[in-house]
Amino acid sequence: MAQNSVPKLSTSSLVLVLALAIIFLAQAKELTETQMSLYLQDIAAGPNATLTPIAGIAGKLWTFTQFGTVYVTDDPITETPDPNSALIGRLQGIYVASGLQGRNTYASVSIVFTSKEYNGSTLELQGNSQQFEQVREISVVSGTGKFRFARGYATFETYFLDQPNAYSILRCNVTVLH
Ligand SMILES: *[C@@H]1O[C@H](CO)[C@@H](O)[C@H](O)[C@H]1NC(C)=O
Ligand SMILES: *[C@@H]1O[C@H](CO)[C@@H](O)[C@H](O)[C@H]1NC(C)=O
Ligand SMILES: *[C@@H]1O[C@H](CO)[C@@H](O)[C@H](O)[C@H]1NC(C)=O
Repeated sequence: MAQNSVPKLSTSSLVLVLALAIIFLAQAKELTETQMSLYLQDIAAGPNATLTPIAGIAGKLWTFTQFGTVYVTDDPITETPDPNSALIGRLQGIYVASGLQGRNTYASVSIVFTSKEYNGSTLELQGNSQQFEQVREISVVSGTGKFRFARGYATFETYFLDQPNAYSILRCNVTVLH
């Protein structure tokens, strides 16, 4: 009678099997790609401004094209371009006119979700914005809540402009892996 031989795993091969299993499980947790189009309601002047200069070089006009001008913003974010559509959150943060030649802005802004699916989560956007391009692209560097570890990119385009009232609607398309 042949004797049944149970292969005996050494400790080191057990460790190897476990390590491989862990690597396999880690890879199995795939990142989710989320895409969304958001609309920013932006008022750049007047008593209800949602974007306003707060600092700049003394003796210079504080404008978007003047190097050194710092803006603070708190734009409502709506679901559609209609300003009366559902409020999804707010875009809060700062912009700095950071190009000596006046074309580039440095943006450091958060998308703060206050309702719907992502209520309580945030996305952090940061980087150079070529403000006179039709489409401005900024990186998404991180997030919180449902967007922990997020990274990706966001595009900004002017969707509607009412120059006399300094009112504009911007479309922000966000693509993130998280
Ligand atoms: C500012 O907002 C208030 C309250 O919503 C409104 O009554 C007023 O007309 C607005 N002012 C301007 C200049 O849009
Ligand atoms: C968003 O979340 C906050 C905190 O959990 C909650 O108080 C609030 O009612 C929520 N808002 C909406 C519109 O769901
Ligand atoms: C943003 O998304 C909309 C669809 O929601 C699309 O029509 C538009 O072309 C996109 N803009 C950019 C710059 O990709």
